[in-house]
Amino acid sequence: MKVDGRPYRTIWLAEDGWSVEILDQTRLPHRFAVERLQGLDAAARAIRTMQVRGAPLIGVTAAYGVALAMTEDPSDAGLARACDLLLATRPTAVNLRWALEGMRRLLQPLGDKARRQAAYARAGSLAEEDVALCRAIGGHGLALIEAAAARRPGERVRVLTHCNAGWLATVDWGTATAPIYLAHERGIPLQVWVDETRPRNQGAALTAWELGHHGVPHRVVADNVGGHLMQHGLVDLCIVGTDRTTATGDVCNKIGTYLKALAARDNGVPFYVALPSPTIDWSLSDGLAEIAIEERDGREVTHLTGATADGSLATIEVVAPGSPVANYAFDVTPARLVSGLITERGIAPASREGLAALFPEQASAESER
Ligand code: MRU
Repeated sequence: MKVDGRPYRTIWLAEDGWSVEILDQTRLPHRFAVERLQGLDAAARAIRTMQVRGAPLIGVTAAYGVALAMTEDPSDAGLARACDLLLATRPTAVNLRWALEGMRRLLQPLGDKARRQAAYARAGSLAEEDVALCRAIGGHGLALIEAAAARRPGERVRVLTHCNAGWLATVDWGTATAPIYLAHERGIPLQVWVDETRPRNQGAALTAWELGHHGVPHRVVADNVGGHLMQHGLVDLCIVGTDRTTATGDVCNKIGTYLKALAARDNGVPFYVALPSPTIDWSLSDGLAEIAIEERDGREVTHLTGATADGSLATIEVVAPGSPVANYAFDVTPARLVSGLITERGIAPASREGLAALFPEQASAESER
């Protein structure tokens, strides 16, 4: 998408033809910095420290991480080490495992010499596929925004989103934001409510930044505001992303998503989840019982980093010093609270039957396993 009129992606091959460049998301919204990854360890660090984040982008970065590793050591041991290291970076987004399994399947049968080239080619095609999947999600989700616009002619469509499921979380377009960007392109007036998304503020720092730089009208709200907005009829539609969705339609996403889904159900607001099919974990049927929820460093809760009046960055402590904290990064929204899953093949009911009807080959492959 565009940053002040210039199109960007979140990850690309550098001009040297082998290193990989990313937008460093830990520095947004106050600094726009491109970082060059020059090896496996740098790619693993970028995922672990959330320089890149968001389920689809984590998967693509891991694929490039394997390509970088094949430059360093294309042996069987090198491939195994790369996949193990990258898989251990973050536990919840299934796109990571999916991308690494695909890379391993592709590279394992090849000789050492062929691995490097094949790895770069596959990482590049995964990035292109991600763009196409998100664009297709946008097309299907657009119909929801058009329908909401038709219900209130001449008024803005008010969409609430949580965390950052925007282009920064993918290679381009985003999942939850793809319908928003398409609607904006078509001239549908919008008002996006952006949940701040504590503790890491992906909404306030990233979604607000990307919508602002693309020119999409939005307002940031503190995390606890969504219920109030919905009670007062100020939200037409919620669209969020997901890090792992079960074959039965349970949705694991950034912490706080579940509370928004509850408020949406209580107030009759449609609650949709946008996802590319690599985010579906076909092996799972109970999101609450089976999905590993990442717990991160408590410092993300106790401290905040931002810009001071002179533009320099500063970190401050916001919790009573010494108080213990808990930092759960994701929660699970049961399928019964989800109005529909916006995928690249269309909008499915959040149920085993709904997903299987859109992806029959995946559902039957899983049942044969
Ligand atoms: O911890 P993060 O920032 O990686 O979490 C991101 C989210 O929860 C997104 O909503 C999800 O990955 C979908 S991104 C298209």
